Amino acid sequence: MELLAISGSPSSPSKTVLALSVALARGGEHEDVHTDLFDLREQELVFSDGRDPADYTGATRDAIDRVVAADALLVGTPMYRGGYTGRLKNLFDVLPNDALAGKPIGLVATGGTDHHFLALEHELKPLVGFFRAWAVPGAVYANNTHFSGGELTDDGVRGRLHDLADAVVTFARHMPVVAGPAAPDIPRRSAAES
Ligand SMILES: Cc1cc2nc3c(=O)[nH]c(=O)nc-3n(C[C@H](O)[C@H](O)[C@H](O)COP(=O)(O)O)c2cc1C
Repeated sequence: MELLAISGSPSSPSKTVLALSVALARGGEHEDVHTDLFDLREQELVFSDGRDPADYTGATRDAIDRVVAADALLVGTPMYRGGYTGRLKNLFDVLPNDALAGKPIGLVATGGTDHHFLALEHELKPLVGFFRAWAVPGAVYANNTHFSGGELTDDGVRGRLHDLADAVVTFARHMPVVAGPAAPDIPRRSAAES
């Protein structure tokens, strides 16, 4: 099983990457689970321009292929202005509509304070819902006080990240890929065709 963690943080070092790494390490303790961290800060993706996802090339093509190849995912973002980052949004904008269909996704967010905890429910869950992915119940949110000296130091958050990783792996192992009905095709027309 390929477990891919995607970080939408543009920062280095990144609390989001720290949190995802804790969950990813736990996921990797399960038998036959291969883990991979996809740090969007390190990728030179082009900005989505509305083309058919099949026509992206280079690093953007590689990013799409990496997401499509994953069996299960962890998706993490810092809160930016009460929502997920533009960098993460851009990745989702270049993905084909069926890239995540039927796959389990564990959601992680970090923020300065707890004020934006519910953005996990109101922003990230609808996003993965569009892709007909399964958002594993019980997303994990960490605030600045949970980190110290470049480490995630809060045992409660660490435990919740372990539980999230366990749930994602268990879900992927025991659920067949069930995605439900496909969405209607979204027409893509170039300006020349309009
Ligand atoms: C541009 C910007 C916007 C931010 N907006 C919020 C916000 O709306 N709510 C919040 O709790 N924290 C906000 N923060 C703080 C970050 O979400 C927080 O420090 C996060 O843990 C950073 O994660 P990272 O180290 O992975 O980038 C913001 C930080 C930046 C740089």
